[in-house]
Amino acid sequence: MTDLTQSPVCRLLGIRYPILQGGMTLVGNWRLASAVSAGGGLGVVSAGRMDTATFRREIAMALDATDQPVGVNIPIGRQHDWIRACFEVAIDSGIKIVLMGGGDPKPWCPLVKDAGKLLGIVTATPEQAAKAEAAGADLVVAESIEAGGRTSRDELAGVTLIPAAAERVSVPLVAAGGFVDGRGLAAALCLGADGVQMGTRFMLAEESPVHEKTRRAMVESGITDTMVVGARHRMGRRVLRSAAAENVQRCEPEASLEEMIDLLSGEWSLRGLHEGDTVRGMVACGQGVGLIHDVLPAAEIIANIMGEAATHLARAADLVRAADGAPAPDA
Ligand SMILES: Cc1cc2nc3c(=O)[nH]c(=O)nc-3n(C[C@H](O)[C@H](O)[C@H](O)COP(=O)(O)O)c2cc1C
Repeated sequence: MTDLTQSPVCRLLGIRYPILQGGMTLVGNWRLASAVSAGGGLGVVSAGRMDTATFRREIAMALDATDQPVGVNIPIGRQHDWIRACFEVAIDSGIKIVLMGGGDPKPWCPLVKDAGKLLGIVTATPEQAAKAEAAGADLVVAESIEAGGRTSRDELAGVTLIPAAAERVSVPLVAAGGFVDGRGLAAALCLGADGVQMGTRFMLAEESPVHEKTRRAMVESGITDTMVVGARHRMGRRVLRSAAAENVQRCEPEASLEEMIDLLSGEWSLRGLHEGDTVRGMVACGQGVGLIHDVLPAAEIIANIMGEAATHLARAADLVRAADGAPAPDA
Protein backbone atom coordinates (compact mmCIF):
# COMPACT_ATOMS: atom_id res chain seq x y z
CA MET A 1 0.00 0.00 0.00
CA THR A 2 1.31 3.46 -0.89
CA ASP A 3 2.56 5.46 2.08
CA LEU A 4 0.67 8.78 1.84
CA THR A 5 3.22 10.45 4.11
CA GLN A 6 5.74 9.96 1.27
CA SER A 7 3.72 12.14 -1.11
CA PRO A 8 5.87 14.58 -3.16
CA VAL A 9 3.93 17.36 -1.40
CA CYS A 10 5.09 16.10 2.01
CA ARG A 11 8.68 15.76 0.84
CA LEU A 12 8.70 19.24 -0.71
CA LEU A 13 7.16 21.00 2.28
CA GLY A 14 8.57 18.85 5.08
CA ILE A 15 5.08 18.06 6.38
CA ARG A 16 3.62 14.78 7.56
CA TYR A 17 0.36 14.58 5.60
CA PRO A 18 -0.50 15.83 2.07
CA ILE A 19 -3.13 18.28 3.31
CA LEU A 20 -2.86 22.07 2.95
CA GLN A 21 -5.10 24.67 4.52
CA GLY A 22 -6.14 27.01 1.71
CA GLY A 23 -5.40 30.70 2.11
CA MET A 24 -8.57 32.27 3.47
CA THR A 25 -9.13 36.00 3.76
CA LEU A 26 -10.61 36.84 7.20
CA VAL A 27 -10.22 33.19 8.31
CA GLY A 28 -6.60 32.08 7.91
CA ASN A 29 -5.13 33.63 11.06
CA TRP A 30 -2.18 32.44 13.17
CA ARG A 31 -4.34 30.25 15.39
CA LEU A 32 -5.87 28.21 12.57
CA ALA A 33 -2.62 28.05 10.57
CA SER A 34 -0.53 26.85 13.52
CA ALA A 35 -3.18 24.28 14.50
CA VAL A 36 -3.19 22.82 10.98
CA SER A 37 0.62 22.71 10.90
CA ALA A 38 0.82 21.17 14.36
CA GLY A 39 -1.67 18.53 13.14
CA GLY A 40 0.69 17.49 10.34
CA GLY A 41 -0.73 19.52 7.44
CA LEU A 42 0.44 22.89 6.12
CA GLY A 43 -1.18 25.86 7.86
CA VAL A 44 -1.32 29.05 5.81
CA VAL A 45 -1.49 32.58 7.22
CA SER A 46 -3.66 34.55 4.82
CA ALA A 47 -2.73 38.15 4.05
CA GLY A 48 -6.11 39.13 2.56
CA ARG A 49 -7.61 42.16 4.37
CA MET A 50 -4.66 42.42 6.79
CA ASP A 51 -2.44 45.48 6.95
CA THR A 52 1.22 44.58 6.70
CA ALA A 53 1.92 45.10 10.42
CA THR A 54 -0.86 42.63 11.27
CA PHE A 55 0.37 40.20 8.63
CA ARG A 56 3.89 40.32 10.11
CA ARG A 57 2.52 39.78 13.63
CA GLU A 58 0.24 36.90 12.57
CA ILE A 59 3.13 35.11 10.85
CA ALA A 60 5.34 35.54 13.93
CA MET A 61 2.59 34.19 16.21
CA ALA A 62 1.98 31.18 13.96
CA LEU A 63 5.70 30.35 13.89
CA ASP A 64 5.85 30.78 17.64
CA ALA A 65 2.94 28.40 18.20
CA THR A 66 4.36 25.45 16.25
CA ASP A 67 7.76 24.10 15.25
CA GLN A 68 6.23 22.68 12.04
CA PRO A 69 6.39 24.41 8.62
CA VAL A 70 3.92 27.23 7.99
CA GLY A 71 3.04 28.95 4.70
CA VAL A 72 1.43 32.22 3.66
CA ASN A 73 -1.11 33.13 0.99
CA ILE A 74 -1.12 36.51 -0.75
CA PRO A 75 -4.06 37.44 -3.00
CA ILE A 76 -2.59 39.12 -6.07
CA GLY A 77 -5.52 41.08 -7.48
CA ARG A 78 -5.25 44.87 -7.41
CA GLN A 79 -3.47 47.16 -4.89
CA HIS A 80 0.09 46.62 -6.09
CA ASP A 81 1.78 48.56 -3.27
CA TRP A 82 0.07 46.47 -0.62
CA ILE A 83 0.87 43.21 -2.47
CA ARG A 84 4.55 44.16 -2.75
CA ALA A 85 4.67 45.02 0.94
CA CYS A 86 3.09 41.65 1.82
CA PHE A 87 5.71 39.82 -0.25
CA GLU A 88 8.45 41.74 1.55
CA VAL A 89 7.00 40.74 4.93
CA ALA A 90 6.68 37.08 3.87
CA ILE A 91 10.16 36.85 2.42
CA ASP A 92 11.65 38.39 5.53
CA SER A 93 9.96 35.82 7.79
CA GLY A 94 10.62 32.17 8.66
CA ILE A 95 7.75 30.77 6.59
CA LYS A 96 8.30 27.82 4.26
CA ILE A 97 6.25 28.63 1.17
CA VAL A 98 4.53 31.63 -0.38
CA LEU A 99 1.30 30.77 -2.18
CA MET A 100 -0.47 33.26 -4.39
CA GLY A 101 -3.69 33.31 -6.37
CA GLY A 102 -6.36 35.53 -7.86
CA GLY A 103 -4.25 37.42 -10.42
CA ASP A 104 -1.22 37.28 -12.73
CA PRO A 105 1.58 35.60 -10.74
CA LYS A 106 4.39 36.44 -13.20
CA PRO A 107 5.49 39.82 -11.78
CA TRP A 108 5.71 38.39 -8.26
CA CYS A 109 7.46 35.05 -8.86
CA PRO A 110 11.05 36.39 -8.99
CA LEU A 111 10.62 38.08 -5.59
CA VAL A 112 9.87 34.72 -3.99
CA LYS A 113 12.40 32.68 -5.94
CA ASP A 114 15.24 35.16 -5.42
CA ALA A 115 14.58 35.04 -1.67
CA GLY A 116 15.01 31.25 -1.72
CA LYS A 117 11.44 30.53 -0.57
CA LEU A 118 9.24 27.85 -2.08
CA LEU A 119 6.64 29.19 -4.50
CA GLY A 120 3.07 27.89 -4.82
CA ILE A 121 0.58 29.17 -7.40
CA VAL A 122 -3.18 28.64 -7.35
CA THR A 123 -4.57 27.97 -10.83
CA ALA A 124 -7.96 27.10 -12.32
CA THR A 125 -7.17 25.64 -15.76
CA PRO A 126 -4.56 23.18 -17.12
CA GLU A 127 -3.06 26.07 -19.15
CA GLN A 128 -2.62 28.20 -16.03
CA ALA A 129 -1.10 25.21 -14.24
CA ALA A 130 1.48 24.74 -17.03
CA LYS A 131 2.26 28.47 -17.03
CA ALA A 132 2.68 28.45 -13.25
CA GLU A 133 5.30 25.74 -13.48
CA ALA A 134 7.06 27.59 -16.31
CA ALA A 135 7.10 30.72 -14.11
CA GLY A 136 9.00 28.80 -11.43
CA ALA A 137 6.30 27.33 -9.16
CA ASP A 138 7.57 24.56 -6.88
CA LEU A 139 3.97 23.49 -6.25
CA VAL A 140 0.81 24.07 -8.27
CA VAL A 141 -2.71 24.13 -6.84
CA ALA A 142 -5.52 23.26 -9.25
CA GLU A 143 -8.70 24.80 -7.87
CA SER A 144 -12.04 23.77 -9.33
CA ILE A 145 -15.51 25.34 -9.38
CA GLU A 146 -16.73 23.54 -6.23
CA ALA A 147 -14.38 25.70 -4.16
CA GLY A 148 -15.35 28.39 -1.71
CA GLY A 149 -14.30 31.98 -2.42
CA ARG A 150 -13.16 33.24 -5.83
CA THR A 151 -14.28 31.12 -8.77
CA SER A 152 -12.78 31.01 -12.22
CA ARG A 153 -14.91 31.91 -15.24
CA ASP A 154 -13.74 28.63 -16.83
CA GLU A 155 -15.94 26.81 -14.30
CA LEU A 156 -14.01 23.53 -14.48
CA ALA A 157 -15.06 20.70 -12.19
CA GLY A 158 -12.37 18.88 -10.26
CA VAL A 159 -12.99 15.52 -11.87
CA THR A 160 -11.81 16.93 -15.22
CA LEU A 161 -9.47 19.71 -14.08
CA ILE A 162 -7.22 17.58 -11.87
CA PRO A 163 -6.25 14.87 -14.39
CA ALA A 164 -5.85 17.51 -17.12
CA ALA A 165 -3.61 19.63 -14.86
CA ALA A 166 -1.65 16.51 -13.83
CA GLU A 167 -0.86 15.91 -17.50
CA ARG A 168 0.63 19.41 -17.77
CA VAL A 169 2.81 19.74 -14.65
CA SER A 170 5.71 17.78 -13.24
CA VAL A 171 6.01 19.60 -9.88
CA PRO A 172 3.78 18.45 -6.99
CA LEU A 173 0.10 19.08 -7.80
CA VAL A 174 -2.45 19.89 -5.11
CA ALA A 175 -6.19 19.62 -5.78
CA ALA A 176 -8.59 22.17 -4.27
CA GLY A 177 -12.36 22.53 -4.42
CA GLY A 178 -14.86 20.31 -2.64
CA PHE A 179 -12.36 18.21 -0.67
CA VAL A 180 -13.48 17.89 2.92
CA ASP A 181 -12.86 14.29 3.95
CA GLY A 182 -10.94 11.07 3.31
CA ARG A 183 -13.09 10.15 0.33
CA GLY A 184 -12.05 13.43 -1.26
CA LEU A 185 -8.36 12.90 -0.56
CA ALA A 186 -8.54 9.36 -1.98
CA ALA A 187 -10.32 10.66 -5.10
CA ALA A 188 -7.85 13.52 -5.60
CA LEU A 189 -4.90 11.12 -5.43
CA CYS A 190 -6.55 8.76 -7.93
CA LEU A 191 -7.18 11.69 -10.29
CA GLY A 192 -3.47 12.47 -10.33
CA ALA A 193 -2.98 15.01 -7.53
CA ASP A 194 -0.31 14.60 -4.86
CA GLY A 195 -2.40 16.16 -2.11
CA VAL A 196 -5.37 18.40 -1.34
CA GLN A 197 -5.93 21.98 -0.25
CA MET A 198 -9.01 22.58 1.85
CA GLY A 199 -10.71 25.82 2.81
CA THR A 200 -14.28 25.08 3.81
CA ARG A 201 -13.40 22.08 6.03
CA PHE A 202 -10.94 24.19 8.04
CA MET A 203 -13.51 27.00 8.43
CA LEU A 204 -15.22 24.40 10.62
CA ALA A 205 -12.14 23.64 12.68
CA GLU A 206 -12.39 24.54 16.36
CA GLU A 207 -9.46 26.93 15.95
CA SER A 208 -11.05 28.90 13.10
CA PRO A 209 -12.23 32.48 13.79
CA VAL A 210 -15.57 31.96 12.01
CA HIS A 211 -18.44 33.01 14.28
CA GLU A 212 -20.23 30.25 16.18
CA LYS A 213 -23.63 31.07 14.59
CA THR A 214 -22.13 30.96 11.11
CA ARG A 215 -20.48 27.65 11.85
CA ARG A 216 -23.81 26.23 13.00
CA ALA A 217 -25.49 27.43 9.77
CA MET A 218 -22.71 25.82 7.75
CA VAL A 219 -22.99 22.47 9.54
CA GLU A 220 -26.73 22.49 8.78
CA SER A 221 -26.22 23.31 5.08
CA GLY A 222 -26.48 20.89 2.16
CA ILE A 223 -24.43 20.67 -1.02
CA THR A 224 -26.95 22.85 -2.90
CA ASP A 225 -26.85 25.65 -0.33
CA THR A 226 -24.07 27.66 -1.97
CA MET A 227 -24.30 30.01 -4.94
CA VAL A 228 -21.91 31.96 -7.16
CA VAL A 229 -22.26 35.75 -7.14
CA GLY A 230 -20.39 38.35 -9.20
CA ALA A 231 -19.54 36.05 -12.12
CA ARG A 232 -21.05 38.45 -14.69
CA HIS A 233 -18.48 41.07 -13.70
CA ARG A 234 -15.64 38.51 -13.57
CA MET A 235 -15.61 38.68 -9.79
CA GLY A 236 -17.30 35.34 -9.22
CA ARG A 237 -17.21 33.91 -5.72
CA ARG A 238 -18.96 30.97 -4.17
CA VAL A 239 -20.82 31.84 -0.98
CA LEU A 240 -23.40 30.33 1.32
CA ARG A 241 -26.92 31.12 0.10
CA SER A 242 -28.25 34.14 2.05
CA ALA A 243 -30.56 37.11 1.61
CA ALA A 244 -27.53 39.32 0.97
CA ALA A 245 -26.15 36.94 -1.67
CA GLU A 246 -29.55 36.67 -3.38
CA ASN A 247 -29.77 40.45 -3.41
CA VAL A 248 -26.38 40.64 -5.17
CA GLN A 249 -27.59 38.11 -7.72
CA ARG A 250 -30.74 40.17 -8.35
CA CYS A 251 -28.72 43.38 -8.84
CA GLU A 252 -26.07 41.79 -11.07
CA PRO A 253 -27.68 42.21 -14.52
CA GLU A 254 -28.03 46.00 -14.05
CA ALA A 255 -25.06 46.79 -11.79
CA SER A 256 -22.00 48.71 -12.96
CA LEU A 257 -18.54 47.44 -12.04
CA GLU A 258 -18.28 50.01 -9.21
CA GLU A 259 -21.67 49.04 -7.84
CA MET A 260 -20.66 45.40 -7.97
CA ILE A 261 -17.39 46.05 -6.13
CA ASP A 262 -19.47 47.76 -3.46
CA LEU A 263 -21.96 44.88 -3.29
CA LEU A 264 -19.13 42.38 -2.85
CA SER A 265 -17.08 44.51 -0.46
CA GLY A 266 -15.41 42.94 2.53
CA GLU A 267 -17.94 44.51 4.91
CA TRP A 268 -20.50 41.87 3.91
CA SER A 269 -17.95 39.12 4.53
CA LEU A 270 -17.05 40.55 7.92
CA ARG A 271 -20.72 40.40 8.88
CA GLY A 272 -21.09 36.85 7.67
CA LEU A 273 -17.81 35.42 8.91
CA HIS A 274 -17.08 37.32 12.11
CA GLU A 275 -20.46 38.64 13.29
CA GLY A 276 -22.53 35.52 12.66
CA ASP A 277 -25.04 37.31 10.41
CA THR A 278 -25.81 34.68 7.79
CA VAL A 279 -28.85 36.60 6.52
CA ARG A 280 -27.43 40.07 5.79
CA GLY A 281 -23.82 38.91 5.55
CA MET A 282 -21.96 36.80 3.01
CA VAL A 283 -19.96 33.70 3.83
CA ALA A 284 -17.52 32.40 1.24
CA CYS A 285 -17.65 28.61 1.32
CA GLY A 286 -17.57 25.65 -1.04
CA GLN A 287 -20.11 23.02 -2.09
CA GLY A 288 -18.36 20.56 0.21
CA VAL A 289 -20.01 22.35 3.14
CA GLY A 290 -22.89 19.90 2.65
CA LEU A 291 -20.61 16.98 3.48
CA ILE A 292 -19.40 18.40 6.82
CA HIS A 293 -21.38 17.48 9.89
CA ASP A 294 -19.20 18.60 12.78
CA VAL A 295 -16.74 21.12 14.15
CA LEU A 296 -13.53 19.42 15.27
CA PRO A 297 -9.99 20.42 16.20
CA ALA A 298 -7.83 20.80 13.07
CA ALA A 299 -5.55 17.95 14.12
CA GLU A 300 -8.53 15.61 14.47
CA ILE A 301 -9.88 16.63 11.06
CA ILE A 302 -6.52 15.76 9.51
CA ALA A 303 -6.15 12.45 11.37
CA ASN A 304 -9.69 11.42 10.37
CA ILE A 305 -9.05 12.26 6.73
CA MET A 306 -5.87 10.20 6.63
CA GLY A 307 -7.61 7.17 8.20
CA GLU A 308 -10.63 7.45 5.90
CA ALA A 309 -8.47 7.90 2.79
CA ALA A 310 -6.53 4.72 3.53
CA THR A 311 -9.82 2.81 3.94
CA HIS A 312 -11.30 4.17 0.72
CA LEU A 313 -8.16 3.53 -1.30
CA ALA A 314 -7.97 -0.05 -0.01
CA ARG A 315 -11.65 -0.58 -0.84
CA ALA A 316 -11.15 0.75 -4.37
CA ALA A 317 -8.10 -1.49 -4.85
CA ASP A 318 -10.11 -4.50 -3.64
CA LEU A 319 -12.95 -3.70 -6.05
CA VAL A 320 -10.56 -3.44 -8.99
CA ARG A 321 -8.91 -6.73 -8.04
CA ALA A 322 -12.30 -8.42 -7.65
CA ALA A 323 -13.32 -7.18 -11.10
CA ASP A 324 -10.10 -8.69 -12.46
CA GLY A 325 -10.73 -12.01 -10.75
CA ALA A 326 -7.30 -11.74 -9.11
CA PRO A 327 -6.99 -12.73 -5.45
CA ALA A 328 -6.17 -10.01 -2.88
CA PRO A 329 -2.47 -10.12 -1.90
CA ASP A 330 -3.20 -11.51 1.60
CA ALA A 331 -5.98 -13.91 0.47
C1 LIG B 1 -13.62 32.10 3.34
C2 LIG B 1 -12.65 31.82 2.23
C3 LIG B 1 -11.68 32.77 1.92
C4 LIG B 1 -10.75 32.49 0.89
N1 LIG B 1 -9.76 33.41 0.65
C5 LIG B 1 -8.76 33.09 -0.24
C6 LIG B 1 -7.62 33.94 -0.37
O1 LIG B 1 -7.50 34.97 0.31
N2 LIG B 1 -6.65 33.56 -1.26
C7 LIG B 1 -6.75 32.40 -2.01
O2 LIG B 1 -5.83 32.10 -2.79
N3 LIG B 1 -7.82 31.58 -1.89
C8 LIG B 1 -8.80 31.88 -1.00
N4 LIG B 1 -9.85 31.00 -0.82
C9 LIG B 1 -9.83 29.68 -1.51
C10 LIG B 1 -9.14 28.62 -0.62
O3 LIG B 1 -7.78 28.89 -0.46
C11 LIG B 1 -9.28 27.18 -1.15
O4 LIG B 1 -8.57 27.01 -2.35
C12 LIG B 1 -10.73 26.78 -1.36
O5 LIG B 1 -11.48 27.09 -0.21
C13 LIG B 1 -10.80 25.28 -1.65
O6 LIG B 1 -12.10 24.85 -1.82
P1 LIG B 1 -13.02 24.30 -0.60
O7 LIG B 1 -13.56 25.55 0.03
O8 LIG B 1 -14.05 23.50 -1.30
O9 LIG B 1 -12.15 23.51 0.31
C14 LIG B 1 -10.82 31.28 0.16
C15 LIG B 1 -11.83 30.35 0.47
C16 LIG B 1 -12.74 30.61 1.48
C17 LIG B 1 -13.77 29.58 1.79
